[in-house]
Amino acid sequence: MEKSRGQWGSRLGFILAAAGSAIGLGNIWRFPTQVGQSGGGAFILVYLIIIFIVGIPLMIGELAIGRRGKINIVGAFKKIKPGSPWWIIGVLGVLAGFAILSYYSVIAGWAVSYIFKFLTGQLADLGAGESGDVFGQLVSSPVEPLIWHGVFMAMTIGIVIFGIDKGIERASKIMMPILFLLLIVLAVRTLTLDGAMEGLRWYLTPNFRAIDISTVLGALGQVFFSLSLGMGAIMTYGSYLTDDNDIPNSAVLISIADLSIAILAGLIIIPAVFAFGFAPEAGPPLIFIILPAVFGAMPLGNLVGALFFLLLTIAALTSAISLLEVPVSYVIDELKWSRKKAATLVGVAIFLLGIPSSLSMGIWQEIFFFGMPFLDFMDFLSSYLLLPIGGLLTAIFIGWAWGSREALKELSKEGVQFSLRGPWFAVVKYILPIVLLYILITGLLP
Ligand code: PHE
Repeated sequence: MEKSRGQWGSRLGFILAAAGSAIGLGNIWRFPTQVGQSGGGAFILVYLIIIFIVGIPLMIGELAIGRRGKINIVGAFKKIKPGSPWWIIGVLGVLAGFAILSYYSVIAGWAVSYIFKFLTGQLADLGAGESGDVFGQLVSSPVEPLIWHGVFMAMTIGIVIFGIDKGIERASKIMMPILFLLLIVLAVRTLTLDGAMEGLRWYLTPNFRAIDISTVLGALGQVFFSLSLGMGAIMTYGSYLTDDNDIPNSAVLISIADLSIAILAGLIIIPAVFAFGFAPEAGPPLIFIILPAVFGAMPLGNLVGALFFLLLTIAALTSAISLLEVPVSYVIDELKWSRKKAATLVGVAIFLLGIPSSLSMGIWQEIFFFGMPFLDFMDFLSSYLLLPIGGLLTAIFIGWAWGSREALKELSKEGVQFSLRGPWFAVVKYILPIVLLYILITGLLP
């Protein structure tokens, strides 16, 4: 039974796939947006601190639970603590996977369409005003973005159907290194633009007075979103791990890879924004409006633009497959459906849930949920509520229900030496619940 679930073919394959889950729109679209809106260097500093105090310890915990369970995330909690209600954390994760992928795929769809818009010259030599028009026309149209959303979901379903090492692992092995190289090339290009240095300074100098609780809440949400934590994506990947994997070491590697790509994406986008005299606060449209204008003013801009959006699509795809894998593996184990049936039906349901997000950029613009258009509401719901609450409950589960003996046993199998075992457990048991509760309560209450 356990054999037929599949396992990672190699340690490198696992690291690349998990890094592929972590690295996505969160790094390239969401991170620069957050940095731009929360004061540059100050945000980065808080972000770094939260990665080390919250992100890495939680990732270690999620991988350990996943490997102990060797089953979908709901089943894992049931297996570790039979007869208790902890499995609800797993259900929350399945729901979060649904919610996130529904709007994630809409945004990824825009990126897919931009590859073609660049290749066919529709975005050639535009100023920011005109590229704003192109973006506005795309996202406000009722049908076109839905087609791209559908294309993106179809690609995601396709990869998930091929199973764990034929699909996800192979795709990640090929796509991740290409992504990294493309980013370096683009960073060199934008950093050598006139005026880029001012942006670089703004990006890297922390302004401590800009830090308040909303910066901290924003950074926390960004850490969960970017590291794929709090909803069982990393846990699901952990369930395919072999016992000889050094989990703490893997978690550090994955987190550093994710952090480097985010910083690199900021290095591409923020200096470019300054070089062209735009405001970094422009928000989510930054990469879809300002970057095309930036590319438009470059030699070979069409090619660079097409490459950039290809890279964004690749990054989004390796994240989307991990989002889809959570509900799919649940359905496979629980309802005994075939992988093909599970991935197709769950994928179609997620596509349908994405429709209101897409329409909220156009004909449903005026309909608000808690004061936000539907897409923003889904993003808020996921990164400020579902993920941190999932992480909080997971930490409490490890610290107070699973316990140090069992958790640490899982982390030191087959002679793996975990030298920080004591501090890690103390952080998960005491610090994480306190810090997460504090940030959630003070950040969310008016
Ligand atoms: N980490 C992914 C990104 O940065 C998004 C994601 C969130 C994936 C949660 C899985 C789980 O784009």
